[in-house]
Amino acid sequence: ANEEEKAEDYLFKIVLVGDSAVGKSNLLARFARDEFYPNSKSTIGVEFQTQKMNINGKEVKAQIWDTAGQERFRAVTSAYYRGAVGALLVYDISRRPTFDSIGRWLNELHTHSDMNVVTILVGNKTDLKDAREVLTSEGKALAEAQGLFFMETSALDSSNVVAAFETVVKEIY
Ligand code: GTP
Ligand code: MG
Repeated sequence: ANEEEKAEDYLFKIVLVGDSAVGKSNLLARFARDEFYPNSKSTIGVEFQTQKMNINGKEVKAQIWDTAGQERFRAVTSAYYRGAVGALLVYDISRRPTFDSIGRWLNELHTHSDMNVVTILVGNKTDLKDAREVLTSEGKALAEAQGLFFMETSALDSSNVVAAFETVVKEIY
């Protein structure tokens, strides 16, 4: 049976979604290269990284797609979501409007991809403790209401970044 398993069986497309500057590109940089850019520019078009992961002793590859939150810099929407089996819906815990946008991003995701795409709601920038505008309990409640996984992360101090990506890949796998 092993010989019939193909590498492609374990290549999962995962998309990053959320408003501009919530930290999508830095979550990916932290996860894939353990890097952080304090002054990163807005993403233009689409970028992706393939990351090998070990899930329950099996090697799987996550192909993680990243585009701009701002409409004018974004990749073609339908192509971006096509074939995605996982999604990270990201907001910035220090900017309430990015949390208010989540419903809109969820609509877009559901319009352009399979209903059962494994989705995690991610509240990023937990290192900005004094600037918090969205409570952990609010994120949790929204995730529960929408049937999403939930985690708070910091791309700056690395907390929960690997865990957030692993949660999605484990559930797909
Ligand atoms: P677009 O590409 O425009 O959609 O933005 P993005 O969501 O990819 O955001 P990006 O990763 O470029 O980060 C935006 C800004 O937030 C940058 O200045 C980052 O350094 C900063 N940033 C990202 N993650 C964190 C974090 O966890 N903590 C803090 N303090 N800053 C962060
Ligand atoms: Mg970006």
